[in-house]
Formats: sequence, C-alpha cells, structure tokens
Amino acid sequence: MNLRIIQLGITHLNECVDLDQKTLNGLWSRFQWERELIEPNRICLGIIELETKKLLGLCSAWLVIDELQITFIAVHPTYQRRGLGKFLFSELIKYSKSLQTNHINLEVKKNNEQAKAFYKSLGFKTVGLRSNFYKDGSDALILNKETLNKS
Ligand SMILES: CC(C)(COP(=O)(O)OP(=O)(O)OC[C@H]1O[C@@H](n2cnc3c(N)ncnc32)[C@H](O)[C@@H]1OP(=O)(O)O)[C@@H](O)C(=O)NCCC(=O)NCCS
Repeated sequence: MNLRIIQLGITHLNECVDLDQKTLNGLWSRFQWERELIEPNRICLGIIELETKKLLGLCSAWLVIDELQITFIAVHPTYQRRGLGKFLFSELIKYSKSLQTNHINLEVKKNNEQAKAFYKSLGFKTVGLRSNFYKDGSDALILNKETLNKS
C-alpha cells in the first residue's frame, strides 16, 4: 500500500464523520468534527491511501501548554492490526516533539481492550480514572506517555 500522512481539514469532514461512525459508533457529532477540523490549535492527521485517496486512519489532538491531549484515534476496521495505528502515532510524536511537548495524555474507555493493548504497546501508563466519563456512563482511564527524548 502507498500511504501518506496528511494534515486533515474541513474538506475531509464527511470522511472523518464516516470513520468515526465505523470505528467508535459516532463518538463526535458532525458539528464537533467541523470544529475540530477548523480550529487552529487542534492537530488532525490522517493516513490516506494514495491510489484510492481513501482515509484509512486519523488522529486528533490538542496542544495544552506543553502537553498533547489525544482526543481521537482510529483506523478503518478493514485495515486494523497492520501497523497503521502505530504509524499514525509515530507521526503525531514527531509533530509533538517539534512543538516541544513533554507529555501525551488521553482517555480510553475502561472496557476498550483493543485500544488499551494498543496504548500499552506504545508505552502509555495508566495515571488515573474518570468515573462516568462517557455518554453511556462508562469510566475512562487516563493514560500518559512522556515524549521528551523518547520515541
Ligand atoms: C486502537 C486502534 C487505533 C489501533 O490501530 P491498529 O492499526 O489496529 O494498531 P497497530 O496495528 O498499529 O497495532 C500496534 C500494536 O498494538 C497492539 N494491538 C493493536 N490492536 C490490538 C488488538 N486488537 N488486540 C491486542 N493488541 C492489539 C499490538 O501490540 C500491536 O502490535 P502487533 O500487531 O505487532 O502485535 C484500532 O484498533 C482502532 O481504530 N480501534 C477502534 C477505535 C478506538 O478504539 N480508538 C481508541 C479510542 S481511545
């Protein structure tokens, strides 16, 4: 596969909403995606397959002082477990280093075993819990990874 990492913008709105539906059952509304893709302090990266121009994966993050808060990461179900999530994340790390960030934080549903295994493989540590964090009442684990001088 010929892949390219690109910065996503408002022209990718439909594809982002679609990938969110397919992977996280619509975590964000269309309006939230619109805001995410427009606001300048948000970083949205996507993996595009060059031949088909299909969006295979995306991640979104906010810069909060010296911390990068990952708010969304997903890989199209057909392409999962082929290293694309790791690839996307390594690009985000490169980007965050260029912004001099020291930490990456994120929340993950306590029962999302797939995502927890993914983050563990990337070196994230659990540092806290937010009760009743998601719409469905489930709890979130707070994960953290130091990025300074580390890959
Ligand atoms: C989490 C997600 C982004 C991972 O993307 P991916 O492209 O499948 O992950 P990778 O292929 O890069 O996997 C990297 C490593 O993570 C771990 N991993 C990933 N998926 C896993 C799974 N289903 N079970 C166990 N370990 C897994 C493995 O250690 C894997 O390395 P390996 O394949 O060499 O064993 C993807 O599963 C996804 O989109 N899930 C649905 C959306 C979601 O839950 N997002 C997170 C919200 S917080």
